[in-house]
Amino acid sequence: MTESSTGSAILVEGLTKSFGDVHALRGIDLAVPRGTVLGVLGPNGAGKTTAVRILTTLLLPDSGRALVEGRDVVREAAAVRRLIGLSGQSAAIQEELTGRENLEIIGRLYHLSWRAARVRAIELLEQFDLADATNRAAKNYSGGMQRRLDLAASLVGDPKVLFLDEPTTGLDPRSRLGMWDIIRSLVARGTTLLLTTQYLDEADELADEIVVIDHGLVIAAGTAEELKGRVGGDVLEFTVPDRSRLSDAVAAVAPIGEGEPHADKETGVVSVGVGGRGSDALIDAVRGLDAVAVRTHGLALRRPSLDDVFLALTGHAAEGDEEGAGSDRRRGRGRGRDRRVDDADTVTTRVAS
Ligand SMILES: Nc1ncnc2c1ncn2[C@@H]1O[C@H](COP(=O)(O)OP(=O)(O)O)[C@@H](O)[C@H]1O
Ligand SMILES: [Mg+2]
Repeated sequence: MTESSTGSAILVEGLTKSFGDVHALRGIDLAVPRGTVLGVLGPNGAGKTTAVRILTTLLLPDSGRALVEGRDVVREAAAVRRLIGLSGQSAAIQEELTGRENLEIIGRLYHLSWRAARVRAIELLEQFDLADATNRAAKNYSGGMQRRLDLAASLVGDPKVLFLDEPTTGLDPRSRLGMWDIIRSLVARGTTLLLTTQYLDEADELADEIVVIDHGLVIAAGTAEELKGRVGGDVLEFTVPDRSRLSDAVAAVAPIGEGEPHADKETGVVSVGVGGRGSDALIDAVRGLDAVAVRTHGLALRRPSLDDVFLALTGHAAEGDEEGAGSDRRRGRGRGRDRRVDDADTVTTRVAS
């Protein structure tokens, strides 16, 4: 298949990969039109990095095939490497070298002259707000700076297709927003991007299309709006300040929801889908909670978020207490943004209780 006949910058069919008896990928299909952003969303261990490593020729698949700009990642690996950039968990930065040296060396790997490699390095350091750190060793960079340098390194060769594997995992919220801005500006210049993330709000924010993967399989695909539409109707949500009453609260609202309520023991937030029952469900919830004397705050209806989608699809939260779910992740999970959207979308005034 040729580049022009596919129209896809990335095309993946039936890709599988196992490590011993761990089935990391169990047959995934992807198609990413040129100049668009695909968000590959999934929890830890879903198979995201395995997919990225195969697409970037670092790992051989067991079966299936993958084309990047029409080139087969196995049979035409060298050609694929010339077309792509990769940044993410396998940081390409050499810590002893300065920012400029790191980028110059990569430029040389792309067969740039020393002079051209230096020009490109300086240009990228400026673009990524690292000009002041040009001659400092990368080991003295902050986490956010190292991440930006790694991203800059992936752009030295002016890739047509860029792979970013969890570009903001572990970053503080401010660096995360900065990274989002950088990613948006890259996309605005027409680069095709495949971005993996475990952050629902990040996929929502940056991706044109999202595929949700879990245990090596694509379990849903579509735009963020399409995925949210799959939850159907509104979500009723409230917080129970007294955590010892959480199970009573869940029991009180279980009869009014469609499906099981979800309760977060840590935050005390209870949510349940109520379909199209809107304000009736709200009134029932107030009565039900009142009858068992559970105090709540922030009781309201909201439009579904991607969190709800993931929960509905998999029965577990995307950002649960799995390994790697450090405090950074929890802080960075973008509740703030969800809240703003929720406020705008809240269809009923909040009921004080
Ligand atoms: N080199 C490897 N050897 C053995 N198991 C691996 C290896 N790489 C990944 N895995 C396993 O494959 C599964 C998918 O891993 P990975 O692709 O890294 O997931 P993600 O990037 O979504 O967190 C996990 O169960 C992981 O432990
Ligand atoms: Mg990974």
